[in-house]
Amino acid sequence: DAADSRDVRRLADWDADRLRSLAGEYGTPLYVQDLDRVRANYERVAGAFPDADVLYAVKANAGGAVLDALRAAGAGAECASAGEVSRALDAGFEPSEIHYTAVNPPARDLDYVLDAAPEATFVVGARDTVDRLDERGFDGRLALRVHPGVGAGHSDEVATGADAKFGVPHDEAVAVLADAVDRGFDVVGVHAHAGSGILDADDLAAHREVLDRIAAVARSAPADLEFVDVGGGLGVPYRPEEPALDLGAVADAVRTALADVNADLVLEPGRYLVADAGVLLTEVNTVKPTDGPTLAGVDAGMTDLLRPALYDARHEVRSLAPGADARASDSVSVVGPVCESTDVLAADRDLPAPERGDLLAVGNAGAYGVEMASNYNSRPRPAVVALDGGDDRLAREREPLAALTRLER
Ligand code: LLP
Repeated sequence: DAADSRDVRRLADWDADRLRSLAGEYGTPLYVQDLDRVRANYERVAGAFPDADVLYAVKANAGGAVLDALRAAGAGAECASAGEVSRALDAGFEPSEIHYTAVNPPARDLDYVLDAAPEATFVVGARDTVDRLDERGFDGRLALRVHPGVGAGHSDEVATGADAKFGVPHDEAVAVLADAVDRGFDVVGVHAHAGSGILDADDLAAHREVLDRIAAVARSAPADLEFVDVGGGLGVPYRPEEPALDLGAVADAVRTALADVNADLVLEPGRYLVADAGVLLTEVNTVKPTDGPTLAGVDAGMTDLLRPALYDARHEVRSLAPGADARASDSVSVVGPVCESTDVLAADRDLPAPERGDLLAVGNAGAYGVEMASNYNSRPRPAVVALDGGDDRLAREREPLAALTRLER
């Protein structure tokens, strides 16, 4: 129902006692990924789009526990690289359940996927990629990624629809499809991804334009298409005051735009399935008053969660320190241990005055969190714990220091 389709989990909804005990057991920084919530998010999307084939955009979080939960729930996998295809196969996805959305694919990636998952659907976004598949004798399933010429999303960096490197321009798409058909390729679909983080009416309006353009391409396609893939982009609110996405409104927009297109619908949500199912736990080790906000120095930084430094992304922060609610509130910036001035997880927030040893939780960390983690400053990547029903289990070990030099010769 409508209320259900707007369901969202806020940072305040997480059980503080449980998070404290996980931090105690596994240490910090720690990603906590709630598989029950991942499954519930998937069910909501599947419920709002009952006729669609839902592929999980693996780039949002390629952890094996997440992949396994979504595969078991019925999702397929949208993979952007050989590495993602390899992890999807490891997690038990059948090659036929995988779409490989190759953006300027390195030869090594193309060769790997052709060998390891020849039954995958290859979604190509350039004439050159069609040629390169032809050169390799490809006789599998081909779909065309269309550059819709318009886009939406939470910031310009992720608005992949407009002015980006992805896809064949929409006014050339039909010609490229015709050429692929002439060459004997099995052309099964068209694809367009509008951008990431669609949340409000403006984003939805931009999304509708993308849908109209992909529908126009689909209607003139010189082949019987099996599917139209409208990409990912379903947003989640990162601020407490932001409303949840109205999934029903997106479903209506998709239905309307594709009403006279005779093909199945495919979606590729990433963020929506995993973002609010994850938090990052981090401990305060340094408190420093300044003329401006009080600095809370913590053990997680931009190497663990890159989004704030890279996109100026906003993530909610909550103090899990016992009794924190009774403290005076303060203006606090949460800063990491990396030697970069952009290593700020949260700037100028109203939080209970921090103390050394406090545990903080960073919200919506389940998408593009651990997945974008790096070893910069020779920082080992954090551990991940998976929650499954009442149980918790280590899903990914904290990298040991030895991992930093393991591949050196
Ligand atoms: N399909 C394609 C072809 C995509 O390029 C993407 C995301 C998705 C699906 C999934 O989009 P989602 O449903 O997650 O919005 N690192 C950025 C997001 C980059 C998204 C790139 N493409 C962030 O942290 O916001």
